Amino acid sequence: MIFYEPGRHKDQGFRHDPFKAFVSPRPIGWISTADAEGRTNLAPYSFFNAMSFLPPVVVFGTGTRSDGSPKDSQRNVEATGEFVCNIVSEALKEQMNKTAVHLPHGEDEMTLAGLEGVACQKVKPLRVAAAPVALECRYLQTVALPSWDPTHGNYAIFGEVIGVHVDPAIVEDGLVDVTRYRPVSRLGYFDYSTVTEVFQMFRPD
Ligand SMILES: Cc1cc2nc3c(=O)[nH]c(=O)nc-3n(C[C@H](O)[C@H](O)[C@H](O)COP(=O)(O)O)c2cc1C
Repeated sequence: MIFYEPGRHKDQGFRHDPFKAFVSPRPIGWISTADAEGRTNLAPYSFFNAMSFLPPVVVFGTGTRSDGSPKDSQRNVEATGEFVCNIVSEALKEQMNKTAVHLPHGEDEMTLAGLEGVACQKVKPLRVAAAPVALECRYLQTVALPSWDPTHGNYAIFGEVIGVHVDPAIVEDGLVDVTRYRPVSRLGYFDYSTVTEVFQMFRPD
């Protein structure tokens, strides 16, 4: 086996740190928020996952902007206590990528990417109308993570899902068929994947 400590990958001939290729595929939380003045913000986060089921809790991990200030998603979630996690279908991959642009605070990536926003039921941020699934979330807490760079932070932001929107076109006989929307996930480097087939296994007991 090849062994390296984080940050020492080049000693073993890796051109880039392969960590994100190993912890993959990672689902993408496409996080919509509103600032205190109600202005929409949308950005993708692939340090994202579900952490519990009853109740459903999700988490996304964020770095900071190049000047060390919080990214807009973190800033808005902590200011308002709400966010929406939109799920990215293959059809929306280009728009998702467009929303990763670093705009000044208060400028709306949803409009920039040509996406329509619709009102949620229980939270103020808009959800992406074209997303097959959107999870309305109530902010729970932020956990500060270690950072190798003293001028930048890393944070994990937790939210409880309090409302779920599902496109009926992805539901068949009471079950969701993910191959109908092919969720986009992040691998390492600039690589992505989608789910094109599924198989089943049942637990031993
Ligand atoms: C597919 C994808 C996944 C991303 N995942 C993350 C992530 O997990 N954490 C992060 O800090 N930035 C991530 N980014 C970069 C942010 O989307 C980008 O910094 C964005 O401008 C943040 O926007 P905000 O300031 O509106 O929150 C990702 C970008 C892309 C395209």
